[in-house]
Order: sequence, then C-alpha cells, then structure tokens
Amino acid sequence: MTTGTSNRYDETNIQTMELVYGRGYMSAGGDEEVARIVGTVRIANKKVLDIGCGLGGAVISLVRDHGAAHVHGIDIDDGLLNRAAQLVEAARVSERVTLTSTRPGPLPFDPASFDVVYVTATSCHVENLSVFFQEIHRVLNPGGRLIGGEWFKGENNSAYRIWDTLLRDRGLNFSFVDQPNFEQALRAGGFSTISIADRTLATMNLAEGYLRQVENKLYETLLSSLGEKGLASFMAWTRGRYQCFAEDGMRYGHFQAKKD
Ligand SMILES: C[S@@+](CC[C@H](N)C(=O)[O-])C[C@H]1O[C@@H](n2cnc3c(N)ncnc32)[C@H](O)[C@@H]1O
Repeated sequence: MTTGTSNRYDETNIQTMELVYGRGYMSAGGDEEVARIVGTVRIANKKVLDIGCGLGGAVISLVRDHGAAHVHGIDIDDGLLNRAAQLVEAARVSERVTLTSTRPGPLPFDPASFDVVYVTATSCHVENLSVFFQEIHRVLNPGGRLIGGEWFKGENNSAYRIWDTLLRDRGLNFSFVDQPNFEQALRAGGFSTISIADRTLATMNLAEGYLRQVENKLYETLLSSLGEKGLASFMAWTRGRYQCFAEDGMRYGHFQAKKD
C-alpha cells in the first residue's frame, strides 16, 4: 500500500523554513496556528498523534500550550526527527513525547490508540488520501478527532502549475487535491462528521508577511547562508507561493473530522 511519497527536505530547505516560519516549524503560523487548528477541541490529558511532525514545533506546543498527556510524533524523514528531538529536549517536554521514524503506509499502531490525530501540511505528500484517512480512522478512539491544516488546489490551474514547478525545482513533490476531493477522501476513510474552514485569506496574508521578511529583515542572513543563487531561488519560491495564493492557484483550510 502506498500512502505517501519518499519526499526529502534537505538541510537548506530545513534551515530556511525554520528561519522563515520559526523554530520547529515547516508550515506557516507557528504556535498560534496550532492554537487556531486546535480551536475548541479538547487536547488536555489526551493522547495525540502528530503525523508528519517535521521539526516538532506542533508536538511541543500540543504538550506545553494545550496540555496533551502525551504526543507521539511520526515522520518519514530521520534528519527532521533528529532536529525535532533536540527541540523537544530543549523545551523540557521529553517525558510526554515520543518521536518515531515511520515509512509511508500502514500506521504502526493498534486500533483505537489515540484521542486526537493532528496532521498539518503533510497529507499533501500522500498519494492515496483515502487509505491514509482510513488508517487515521483506525487508530483513533471512537469519538476521537482528526484535526489539521492543509493546502488545496485552487481553481486557477496555470497559477497552480507555476507553484508546483517551483516546488519540484526545490526537490519537493506534492500531491495536492482540491477541497471537494479532500472531503471525499475523508468520507472514504470512514469519517462522516467533517468540517473545513477556509483559511486562504489569512494564510495568504501570512505568506505576504513572510515574503516581506525575506525581502527585508531576513535578506542578509539568507544571503550569507544560501549565497546569491540560492537566495534568488528562495525569493522566487516565496514570491511564487504568495502569487499562487493571490491568483487562486492554491487555497488553505483547517479541517476537523470525528470518528463516530
Ligand atoms: C511541510 S512539512 C510539515 C511539517 C509539520 N507538520 C509542520 O507543520 O511544521 C511535511 C512533513 O510531512 C512528512 N511526511 C511526508 N509524507 C509522510 C508520511 N507518509 N508519513 C509521515 N510523515 C510524512 C515530511 O517528512 C515532512 O516532515
């Protein structure tokens, strides 16, 4: 069964993402975005699984800011998990965190192992979304919730294709779907109570803020770490993302799905 790609974030991708998005994050919004995704879902004293935990920012926040009893972070990339382990240690939350390297495919957990599954900017790497959600449904307790944030393909296919090419040039392969197909995959995975809140405008504003930082405050730092050519490519990527949002090539949403 294939439910993911063997995508790789190299050292440059990691460093620049952390510089722009903040310590421990590879997606927009940092701890505040985690809080928005959590919303009114009860995390305190719950067992949480973070799939595609990356550099561990959300793992730490779910324990420290939302009182999770335990967060199990999994990722297919050992380099990211090593960095996540350092950050978890530095945040002094190690006793309530487990980090595990996994492969795309069946989740290595018994049925009904978690109260909440958190997935942000990761299902876009997954080729067979229905099977991915089926697995999440299996490992959730009855009444448990899947929460997260994800990019969706927008209406403007040519704007989307420009962005997709920029990502592939950076060695990142994604399988973005539009929101109706995402919802359909959730239903096929066994979820019936589903809600998706459109966050395109807010995320586009964040993307614009990141673009301004790269052009101004972070310019010199990025120039010395990436060199002229690397910075030019990173600028094109950051601009391309904002442009893609602005032209409806991509959308962003927060989703919730309950296991009945
Ligand atoms: C854009 S990053 C987001 C990381 C983190 N969720 C965040 O918001 O900072 C996507 C992450 O998903 C991981 N990933 C991709 N496919 C995966 C899979 N099938 N299972 C687990 N992790 C996966 C990647 O290695 C990467 O860490």
